[in-house]
Amino acid sequence: MNLYKNTFRFYDLIATDFDNDDLKFYENFLRSKNSKVLEVGCGTGRVSIWLANHGYSVVGLDLSEEMLGVFKKK
Ligand SMILES: C[S@@+](CC[C@H](N)C(=O)[O-])C[C@H]1O[C@@H](n2cnc3c(N)ncnc32)[C@H](O)[C@@H]1O
Repeated sequence: MNLYKNTFRFYDLIATDFDNDDLKFYENFLRSKNSKVLEVGCGTGRVSIWLANHGYSVVGLDLSEEMLGVFKKK
């Protein structure tokens, strides 16, 4: 079920209210910059893009074409 078919436009607006503590959690969990990441449910790329910008090799997948459309524009 694609819950974001109609709400994908709002995800990043809502995500600005996230504290983003999860990003540091993921980075601490990864052992080295050589770690490869598969983010299942990458959505608009909030986590994947942040990790990629911090030197990790990231592959994201998502069932929502709409969310991936936002990701690709970024
Ligand atoms: C709450 S969003 C989180 C997006 C991103 N991980 C983040 O933290 O900003 C959840 C995402 O998981 C995706 N999703 C849900 N079930 C999925 C599944 N079975 N396979 C792939 N993606 C899925 C949704 O389409 C949505 O983009």
